[in-house]
Amino acid sequence: MRPVRRIAVIGAGTIGASWAAWFLSRGLEVVASDPSPGAPELIRRMVEGAWPILQQLGAAPGADPGRWSFEPDPVKAVAGCDAVQESAPERYEVKQPLLRAISAALPEDALILCSSSGLLVSRLSEGCTHPGRVVIGHPFNPPHLIPLVEVVGGGTASAEAVQAAVGFYRGIGKHPIVLNKEVPGHLANRLQAALWREAVHMVAEGVASVADVDAAIAQGPGLRWALMGPHATFHLAGGEGGYAHFMHHLMPAVTSWWESLGNPVLTPELQRALIEGVAQETDGRPIPALAAERDAALVRLLAAKAG
Ligand SMILES: NC(=O)c1ccc[n+]([C@@H]2O[C@H](COP(=O)([O-])OP(=O)(O)OC[C@H]3O[C@@H](n4cnc5c(N)ncnc54)[C@H](O)[C@@H]3O)[C@@H](O)[C@H]2O)c1
Repeated sequence: MRPVRRIAVIGAGTIGASWAAWFLSRGLEVVASDPSPGAPELIRRMVEGAWPILQQLGAAPGADPGRWSFEPDPVKAVAGCDAVQESAPERYEVKQPLLRAISAALPEDALILCSSSGLLVSRLSEGCTHPGRVVIGHPFNPPHLIPLVEVVGGGTASAEAVQAAVGFYRGIGKHPIVLNKEVPGHLANRLQAALWREAVHMVAEGVASVADVDAAIAQGPGLRWALMGPHATFHLAGGEGGYAHFMHHLMPAVTSWWESLGNPVLTPELQRALIEGVAQETDGRPIPALAAERDAALVRLLAAKAG
């Protein structure tokens, strides 16, 4: 696969614009494409707003926040690009024709990376030209701050393309992980979905308020999860006997909890209760202010982890 110096960001909404900011900060040239007339302004705001933070995180020498252009036609946008990061809406009927069109316009050794949160790469690449270079490269919001990228080849991408995707993301300062098989929702979103299901169930059952369910994570295990995942966390919970002792000691209790985990139905009433609960928790503060606060704290957390 060819080295990436110029990358096309196809679909420039929340995720695409944030990807564009990160790519620029790593010294790449970006060509963005989106059917929305408001897209160039969104990218400009995202790049300008994020640039001070990106410099704080260590922009590449020569990185230029103005090194991007906009071309509404995705097929024209990919011309001369070494790779694509596709971030169009999360629907097969939107992504499949888009991927078919851009893949026909790209040389065989240009990677096509899809930001999809949970679609199967084997279906996304159906009908593409050289489908073996279509790979999931799933980021976490906001991609210009969160290091994780899930790479999935799903049996249709070549081993070379999967390795090239890993090398590309690692080279631009991300933390790629590879899924050996494709599954709906990939890995991290399935973990999030499992936790969210129980978070909803606990509110539905009246066990705790929305704010207290959130505090149960953010003031508790969430602090450890920023440092190590669920397996390593329980390895340490087993004392000197580690994970083996933890399993021996606590497995009967934990597996009995598994049996009582909930499977809530998101009725309109439950949805209203959750939405009202989160509005109370956040004092009705606007989302941009909450996101800015989260992003500033994330930068401090990343710096602490790096230290
Ligand atoms: N929002 C998240 O937290 C998040 C996180 C990781 C990955 N993703 C994934 O990223 C992708 C984009 O999600 P988003 O949250 O940025 O959505 P979004 O709605 O903010 O942005 C999607 C953009 O795609 C554009 N678009 C519509 N039709 C298009 C087409 N045919 N070709 C190209 N662009 C088109 C829209 O105008 C819009 O600007 C999805 O696959 C989603 O699953 C989202």
